[in-house]
Amino acid sequence: MAANSETQVRKRMRRNGRQGTGNGRYAHIVGWGIEVPERVLSNDEIERMVETSDEWIRDRTGIAERRIADERDTTATLGLRAARKALTQANLSPRDLDLIIVATSSPTHLFPATANTIQDKLGASRAGAFDLLAACTGFIYAVSLAAAHIEAGMANAVLVIGTETLSRILDWQDRSTCILFGDGAGAFVLCASETPGGVRASVLHSDGSGGDHLYARSGVRTSWNGPPTEQSLVMNGQEVFRFASRVMAQATEEVLEQAGLAIDDVDVIIPHQANIRIIQAAARGLKLPMDRFFVNIERYGNTSTASIPIAVVEAVEQGQLKSNDRLVLVGFGAGLTWGAMLIEWDVVPSARSYLQDALRESWYILAHVRSMVRRLLRVLEAIFWKQPRDTQHRATRLPDDKEQTD
Ligand code: UT7
Repeated sequence: MAANSETQVRKRMRRNGRQGTGNGRYAHIVGWGIEVPERVLSNDEIERMVETSDEWIRDRTGIAERRIADERDTTATLGLRAARKALTQANLSPRDLDLIIVATSSPTHLFPATANTIQDKLGASRAGAFDLLAACTGFIYAVSLAAAHIEAGMANAVLVIGTETLSRILDWQDRSTCILFGDGAGAFVLCASETPGGVRASVLHSDGSGGDHLYARSGVRTSWNGPPTEQSLVMNGQEVFRFASRVMAQATEEVLEQAGLAIDDVDVIIPHQANIRIIQAAARGLKLPMDRFFVNIERYGNTSTASIPIAVVEAVEQGQLKSNDRLVLVGFGAGLTWGAMLIEWDVVPSARSYLQDALRESWYILAHVRSMVRRLLRVLEAIFWKQPRDTQHRATRLPDDKEQTD
């Protein structure tokens, strides 16, 4: 290819970003659901754990309380319950799903992926499933990928979940981080449609040079014979704050330019809920009043990949996000990563059918039976399939694969 035309192609790619394929397929959000643990951890309680105060936390972050998962829950069980609600809202069966993407920063295991556990528990027997790691920007990355799959004709229905048990990777002695984060989950179901609308544009960014400002080692040793590593989250709050205050407005402007829209064409902006002062900085950068932003950080803190879907669902429930509204989602996180997405929220909740609800519930019971049968067949296979003794492997349950799903 000649140098000139290559440059033109690059320019065109940059201008277009991910705006659909133009093949008449659109990715619409047809279902949504959230799950937050019951246990509320207030600032007053944290005051008794580290040297801090309710006043400092509220002033510097906007957070009053957050939810903490109890020991019966995992990242997978929270995500599973959010997913079931989203499927009910969409009035779809798990077997309609082609793909499950779980965005998480706090998976129970390095592998298998949380998405595989959820796929099994849902009985989504036709779906591929994987986890995506882009920290707090993960939900925007995952919805963008889901929409691209649908537009390209590779999937008709995709489940996207953001789910976290961040309380398990926090250092509860570190007052600069333990005050910020909380647990929870949110899910979207995206479906193919020929009607224009749904996910219209997205921008995704990364700057790995800032990776050391926010990380969690998650048990990976520095060498094969090195000592076990810290699992806790480590953060340089001021660096992340500066970066976030800059990129939130930038990414919003970028996605609007890509969609050919102005800021006044947008009805609601739902930002990642990390710190009220970061959202205020974004509002200043965009010269918008705060009432154009949906904020619920006061009650949940920063739930990483779950923060945006939890906020979207609450905005719908409170009537702040309505049918035919134009919505911008914008977020940032470790990586460093950041991104934004423009969505036409042209959704009309599908009519609930009690028969469908009952069938879905029966399907979940069948999924449980199916999973047990598959485990049993694997045991039988191991008995009857005579393998050389030294390569035999004894299958055990995952250590933290909790049975509780409701
Ligand atoms: O999804 C992405 C996740 N991360 C973020 O979004 C984090 C972004 N950063 C932030 O939200 C803020 O930087 C923090 C909330 C973490 C910290 O707020 P800050 O206004 O940047 O405080 P600072 O780090 O500049 O610290 C100011 C003072 C320090 O004391 P000295 O050195 O001035 O005496 C800190 O030791 O506040 C102290 N401090 C606290 N005091 C009471 C830090 N944490 C606390 C605390 N309670 N919890």
